[in-house]
Amino acid sequence: MYPLIRNRRLRQSESIRRLVRETTISPNDFLVPLFVVEGKSIKEEIPSMPNYYRMSLDTLQQEVKELWQLGLCAVLLFVKVPEKVKDIQGTEALNPDGLMQKAIKTVKSACPEMLVMTDVALDPYSSYGHDGIVADGQILNDKTNEILAEMSISHALAGADFVAPSDMMDGRILTIREALEDEGFHDTGIMSYTAKYASAFYGPFRDALDSAPVDIKNVPKDKKTYQMDPANRFEAIRETQMDVDEGADIVMVKPGLPYLDIVREIKNDVDVPVAVYQVSGEYAMLKAAAEKGWLDHNSVMMEQLIAIKRAGANLVASYFAKDVAQLLG
Ligand code: PBG
Repeated sequence: MYPLIRNRRLRQSESIRRLVRETTISPNDFLVPLFVVEGKSIKEEIPSMPNYYRMSLDTLQQEVKELWQLGLCAVLLFVKVPEKVKDIQGTEALNPDGLMQKAIKTVKSACPEMLVMTDVALDPYSSYGHDGIVADGQILNDKTNEILAEMSISHALAGADFVAPSDMMDGRILTIREALEDEGFHDTGIMSYTAKYASAFYGPFRDALDSAPVDIKNVPKDKKTYQMDPANRFEAIRETQMDVDEGADIVMVKPGLPYLDIVREIKNDVDVPVAVYQVSGEYAMLKAAAEKGWLDHNSVMMEQLIAIKRAGANLVASYFAKDVAQLLG
């Protein structure tokens, strides 16, 4: 008798498919990235990220309440500061009344239970558009770490629950952890951008924040001396082990879909939660294809997110978070 085993038995109705489904998506899975700008009543669409917006603090307040209503429980904050406050040291990053510090307080006062994570890197504040301090054409590692630690304290003071260093300097998790401990922020977590690749998928994000590295003589115009080479896999394991040893509570892989082999590799290697950042370029690609009628937006969106979770992601930073929560709601 052939065949005794028929795999299609478990696929024959939606009910049986629901029973045996291995991976599911819920609003609990998401970090919602939010872009904050100065001003009032601002909600401006980012041209390369359709239906995604930069928001002023008052708009942010409304948005956060809406997200909470939809069941989303964590945001990841980014700021776009005016060109005139940028300098080569990224001084504005440490301003206690700076935009990030105000944004943290705004979210917490609008919605105290909303978990607030903050981007810790110098690029939005740097006139060079680099994540670290630039001197003599180099991105300085240890000097940058000191500033990232100060930034982290400043975010924690404003009320951030987690800081998320996205810079890829060596040893920054330890420097930040020690600084937080010294200042008594024992419960402030660190989500480390652990395996962050030097990816061309970040283009739309750099448009959103106007944070792309600028063309200056003797300063690299890309981030390849600190972000990882897309060709490397074993290096991601080394990065992860280091970050976990240095005190990272959550480790992140970025971008998402093209790097799911790395996600699985890391998931098998460490037991801290693994986050994935489905980045701006991934968002833009689907929006563009859907606009043209070439892909079905919602089906492809869900399939991509299922794939990211199946690969091993415990949480996903995604510009689709609100769309998904609305779809599931
Ligand atoms: C900057 C930062 C970047 C992103 C998150 N934090 C851009 C970069 O490294 O140049 C990219 C996110 C995205 O593309 O959605 N520290």
